[in-house]
Amino acid sequence: MADVVHYERDGAVGVITVDNPPVNALSVEVRAGLVDALARGLADAGAAALVILGAGRTFIAGADIREFGKPLTPPDLNEVIGRIEASPKPVIAALHGTALGGGLEVALGCHYRGAVVSAQVGFPEVKLGLLPGAGGTQRLPRLIGVEPALEIIVRGDPVPALKAHALGIVDEIVPGDLRAGAVEFAARVAAEKRPLRKIGASDEKLLAARSNPAVFETFRTGIERQARGYLAPFKCIEAVQAAVTLPFDAGLRRERELFVECLLSPQSRAQIHAFFAEREATKIPDVPKDTPVRLIKTAAVIGAGTMGGGIAMNFANAGIPVTVVEATAEALDRGLAVVRKNYAATAEKGRLSPAEMERRTALIRGTLDFQAVADADVVVEAVFEDMGVKKEVFAKLDRTCTAGAILATNTSTLDVDEIASATARPGSVIGTHFFSPANVMRLLEIVRGARTAKETIATAAELARRIGKVWVLAGNCDGFIGNRMLAGYLREAEFLVEEGATPAQVDRVIYDFGFPMGPFAMSDLAGLDVGWRIRKGKAHRRPKDLRDSPVADRLCEQGRFGQKTGAGWYRYEKGSRTPIPDPEVEALVAASAKEQGLTRRAVGDEEILARCLYPLVNEGARILEEGIALRPSDIDVIYLHGYGFPRYRGGPMFWADTLGLKRVYEEIAAYHRTHGRHWQPAPLLRTLAEQGQSFRDFKGTGA
Ligand code: 3HC
Ligand code: NAI
Repeated sequence: MADVVHYERDGAVGVITVDNPPVNALSVEVRAGLVDALARGLADAGAAALVILGAGRTFIAGADIREFGKPLTPPDLNEVIGRIEASPKPVIAALHGTALGGGLEVALGCHYRGAVVSAQVGFPEVKLGLLPGAGGTQRLPRLIGVEPALEIIVRGDPVPALKAHALGIVDEIVPGDLRAGAVEFAARVAAEKRPLRKIGASDEKLLAARSNPAVFETFRTGIERQARGYLAPFKCIEAVQAAVTLPFDAGLRRERELFVECLLSPQSRAQIHAFFAEREATKIPDVPKDTPVRLIKTAAVIGAGTMGGGIAMNFANAGIPVTVVEATAEALDRGLAVVRKNYAATAEKGRLSPAEMERRTALIRGTLDFQAVADADVVVEAVFEDMGVKKEVFAKLDRTCTAGAILATNTSTLDVDEIASATARPGSVIGTHFFSPANVMRLLEIVRGARTAKETIATAAELARRIGKVWVLAGNCDGFIGNRMLAGYLREAEFLVEEGATPAQVDRVIYDFGFPMGPFAMSDLAGLDVGWRIRKGKAHRRPKDLRDSPVADRLCEQGRFGQKTGAGWYRYEKGSRTPIPDPEVEALVAASAKEQGLTRRAVGDEEILARCLYPLVNEGARILEEGIALRPSDIDVIYLHGYGFPRYRGGPMFWADTLGLKRVYEEIAAYHRTHGRHWQPAPLLRTLAEQGQSFRDFKGTGA
């Protein structure tokens, strides 16, 4: 067995070190190693107390997620923790980095906990569609009370050491060196003969909830909206409830049952897929992690419109000074006023201190002088979606910027290579496709042009990480990954309405599937004029022989641009964002259907779901085949973070795998026969279906 847990003595204290990089996950070797090391410590007459700590960057960060779904090899974690808690010698957990999940459960099995001030503790299991399965739901409420425990377990967010100390999770903040401090703490506990605090044996903190069981119902109601569709948050509540209603051992058994129920659910499979997909996306086979990057000290943004302002806020939020260049004083004033308003709104909600708001605002400098970009390490262009304007800007950037500066475009539909051709340094040109609102949405598509240098990609990726984005590499094509797939989704939504569904029905089906809103509510929010202008634009690259529903264009011709004009696919009362079905739209749709000779019919919910979501899968397959996306899971990451695809369904490609590609292919082929060329099945989908394979079996085109 791998030597992943060490035991050694430090004075009168035995030190158990878990050394299982990168995050000291509780693999079977670690679990067995802990049992052995504990036995050594107990047998070591010179050790009056024991310390458990993690080597490297962190204490134990949880169970080994890669072992989930495989048969469990003993000892199981509950047994390990039970032995620690039953130890006749005091055991002290010494926390640094992230003591998460099973890691925190090990720490709660110890009699005392010390932590460095930078440590974080938490139960992130819920984010993997799980609940703490080794006593966390039974011990934490016994330690800190039911309500704070519910907050931590059901929300899954990490708790910084100082807060954990205030709550009573951490007994001592260790100043200076963790190991030395923890050994000293352990020696003190032994010398003072402090009682062994066995959390499992104490009940006092449960008494309040025992006499007021309504606390669980209240909590459940409180999360209902946010946790809509998810299983795990509600199972977490049930598990904590078991701590209050059952004796400790029975509570542990109940927790285990609920854990297994979650583990076997399709939701946790999907959420664990999402966890690994996000990490996989950052690996670019021909751009290794050690590719040199340019240090970004200053940034510039060209254009202070809808996107430019939000992009500038990203830089300021990360402490990077940013210059915003505009064409006119009016546009600049307007853009900067929006930025200030956004910061003020966040400050008003108490999520930003006034000082921090000032600091960030001061990092954003507006100017009309293009020369101001001269010393920026990165420039993001966010001017009008017009090839002529973009090329002019890039030619100017080429003349003005320092060598090696990253020249990025935020274009959503234009050819990054053509934009790069306006410069003599296409290697420095890259697409950074932010999503609206850019200061809120976490997704960034990094678009690689034909001549984009590896250093440029690595620098953009590092910058994305610094500004807190989830990023995915995309190839250069119309709409890149996300919007290219979305086109078919929106097209079918509009066709369905022409054929007889209502916008409200389509939106309800998509909402019930788990999206935060359906296609029509989303279009109204984003603004119908955006797509309208693109459709009318010369640079639009979509084939012209495919039919589009004319309804969206007609709405725009009537000035119905969505929420911002009080009407779009729905109408909106003044000051309200609630969509109200509008008979005028219904009439417009009916007229359009008539013109096209369509006989309207009742459309079933199942058909709506299939016809909206299958185009995502089919286009996703083409995108994979063309090498525009590196892997199916990258596409999933884009849909989870950019389009509100429900995380508990894993993303469109994962979802298609769960249905089975044979079924998906056959249904798409059937739509192809009845609805024509739009539905032509992607060759890759067909091949995988015929071979009985899934997208997860796809290993690239080799291109
Ligand atoms: N099991 C297996 N692998 C894990 C892991 C885990 N619990 N946590 C992280 N890893 C892997 C990652 O996949 C990644 O692998 P890669 O290098 O091959 O891509 C590597 O460790 C490093 O992870 P990150 O890139 O995420 O490193 P960071 O430093 O950014 O973050 C972290 C570290 C905060 C620990 C983050 O990895 C994380 O949140 N991990 C998951 C923690 C978690 O969910 N723990 C609970 C697990 S479930 C559980 O404990 C059940 C128990 O109650 C019974
Ligand atoms: P916008 O019209 O709101 O803003 C563009 C701004 O650029 C205007 O303020 C204009 O004055 C300024 N501008 C034009 N020419 C300029 C020049 N030569 N120098 C300096 N400033 C100049 O446009 P929006 O929506 O912000 O879009 C910008 C880019 O981002 C476009 O390429 C668009 O396709 C893309 N995009 C837009 C999204 C959206 O939801 N609005 C989402 C993702 C990308």
